[in-house]
Amino acid sequence: MGVVGLKYLELGRSGLRVSKIGLGTWQIGSSEWGWNRGYGVDDVVRAIARAHELGINFIDTAEIYGGGVSEEVVGRAIREFRDEVVIATKVWPTHATYDGVLKACERSLRRLGVDVIDLYQIHWPNPLVPLSSTMRAMERLVELGKVRAIGVSNFSLGRLKKAQECLRREEIASNQVKYNLVERGVEKGLLQYCEREGIALIAYSPLAQGFLTARYSASNRPRDLVRRLNPLFDPAVLRRAEPLMTLLREVAARHGAEPGQVALAWLIRWSRVVAIPGAKRPEQVESNARAADLELSDEEWGMLSEAASKVSIGIWPRLKTPLRLLGI
Ligand SMILES: NC(=O)c1ccc[n+]([C@@H]2O[C@H](COP(=O)([O-])OP(=O)(O)OC[C@H]3O[C@@H](n4cnc5c(N)ncnc54)[C@H](OP(=O)(O)O)[C@@H]3O)[C@@H](O)[C@H]2O)c1
Repeated sequence: MGVVGLKYLELGRSGLRVSKIGLGTWQIGSSEWGWNRGYGVDDVVRAIARAHELGINFIDTAEIYGGGVSEEVVGRAIREFRDEVVIATKVWPTHATYDGVLKACERSLRRLGVDVIDLYQIHWPNPLVPLSSTMRAMERLVELGKVRAIGVSNFSLGRLKKAQECLRREEIASNQVKYNLVERGVEKGLLQYCEREGIALIAYSPLAQGFLTARYSASNRPRDLVRRLNPLFDPAVLRRAEPLMTLLREVAARHGAEPGQVALAWLIRWSRVVAIPGAKRPEQVESNARAADLELSDEEWGMLSEAASKVSIGIWPRLKTPLRLLGI
């Protein structure tokens, strides 16, 4: 396969240009995703190399993924082309104090084997630590040349504005949040704000953790912990989603594509949205990159939005999923 027609956008006003399809790496080192059961280090290293070959230049990791294994593997895999990729990592909320952020950043730099982190993100808000301390530490890291741009993750619109107010010199480049066809909470204001203000909205779980690839059904469910905890994979929800899956397959067939590519193409039509699908092997990266070649018509986009809005999760699957895991 040749190079795909990836488009690029700037993360806020940071000067960092990233491909609108990036690569998520929670899967690396994470037993909850089935690490070393069906895929392992060779697969993900080849996946990262393939991403680079195809023009995907944005890799997202976090200190928490695989207890640091993800950062280590990413660091090793990009060594030969470090200057051609934008590395994003995240500080876990238990390290949100001023000193905690500075120390966590040092550890991430060491595991990644780099001098500077391109985008450093606060993984989740920590209501027990004043946001101003966390943001001051982030700004200090930019001053020290250890971080190029500041991002947040899982921040509501109100908290995003507050975080920006805490900064004296820097601007927030991005907010990483869950966004896909069937999980569209960000459309209640956050998305519109980011589009207007030029803040990148980094969409995590853009395939709804594989739900939107239309490979799973009530009789064929993934068995890893992540998806056993995700109510989207409840049999009743999978059954309710059949009309959407059929539509995804139909639209995909029309474009000679795959359903997951349609779901990604739907997402990156927004000008400030970057999707970071997680991948376990090079074939998945290749398929996800191909979504950049897919132009949906307005009619297709509207039909998909409409069909997806009918997939309700409901209260019972939300309650049942964690209870089942506890054996209740
Ligand atoms: N900031 C946060 O709080 C946060 C939270 C979650 C995720 N993230 C980030 O966002 C990234 C993506 O989110 P996610 O991993 O939750 O979900 P996702 O990207 O929606 O789904 C990833 C899963 O979909 C399947 N898949 C991927 N590409 C595929 C393809 N081309 N064909 C068929 N199946 C494919 C793979 O699982 P199977 O092959 O097993 O089906 C893969 O593990 C993460 O890796 C992480 O970097 C951030």
